[in-house]
Amino acid sequence: MKVFSDKIEIQSYISEEKSNGSTFGFVPTMGALHEGHLSLVKEALSNNNYAVVSIFVNPTQFDNEEDLEKYPRTLERDVALLKTVSDSILVYAPSVDDIYEGNTKSEQFSFDGLEFEMEGRFREGHFDGVGTIVKRLFEIVTPNNAYFGEKDFQQLAIVKKLVEKYHIPVTIVGCKIHREANGLAMSSRNERLKPEYKIAAPFIYKTLKEAKEKFGTKSAKEVTEWVERQFAKHKLLELEYFIIADIETLKPVKRKSKSKTYRAFVAAYADDIRLIDNLALN
Ligand code: PAJ
Repeated sequence: MKVFSDKIEIQSYISEEKSNGSTFGFVPTMGALHEGHLSLVKEALSNNNYAVVSIFVNPTQFDNEEDLEKYPRTLERDVALLKTVSDSILVYAPSVDDIYEGNTKSEQFSFDGLEFEMEGRFREGHFDGVGTIVKRLFEIVTPNNAYFGEKDFQQLAIVKKLVEKYHIPVTIVGCKIHREANGLAMSSRNERLKPEYKIAAPFIYKTLKEAKEKFGTKSAKEVTEWVERQFAKHKLLELEYFIIADIETLKPVKRKSKSKTYRAFVAAYADDIRLIDNLALN
């Protein structure tokens, strides 16, 4: 397994291997790797000769300085973990300068309105930051395929839109949410949960599952109000939003249609830690 911190070096390694006929599956991450990330890496390895894993805590996608500072950085452990998976992994762990070359700013994007919903409403500038880093990483890595988790479903939709708009020659593959045995969606942020909040957090997935069941017979409004009541009663978790949205537009559903596909999305605070999750409803 090879670890690079310089874009020129990884670029030349990849282009050499590509000229020998190798294919590359790319998994961009911010590190603090867990089984959820590894499931993407394994998927990449099963369909490409190499998996490239980038580990970079991207400053431009954080709207909150404290969140950026506190984001776990565990490069040594991440590299050791990836070594246990396969030798055919290239790690790219650049410095902020290697990526931003002294200008740590976002490009401005239009993602046809996808960027204004949910996470876009609550985290200002977040998707410009994500678009900027993902586009740059695609230019450096030039992958054949790139793997993104449905855990960040809106991000996955936005990356698909980015690739379409800029005609980037990469296939985007969406991967299922990996969960703890208790249902909690795996996240690098879970490591920071205090014990009582760790016990409380699976409530999010449990409520999503109950919402799914109710959505079979009730309206989106009724289900949303029911979920809001459940969180209002909860002593440790604070709901930021619960939204049932059409997966094409990510806009909240007003009236259900049999021909559309819906998903429920939630963001909630466990103490000062923001957790997100989502579930397909039909
Ligand atoms: P990060 O949060 O590290 O996630 C990296 C990738 O792993 C994303 O595609 C995310 O959806 C996926 N992932 C995280 N937890 C998962 C889980 N429990 N199950 C399945 N997939 C999971 O998302 C980012 O980093 C950044 O925004 C990035 C795309 C790297 C740009 O900076």
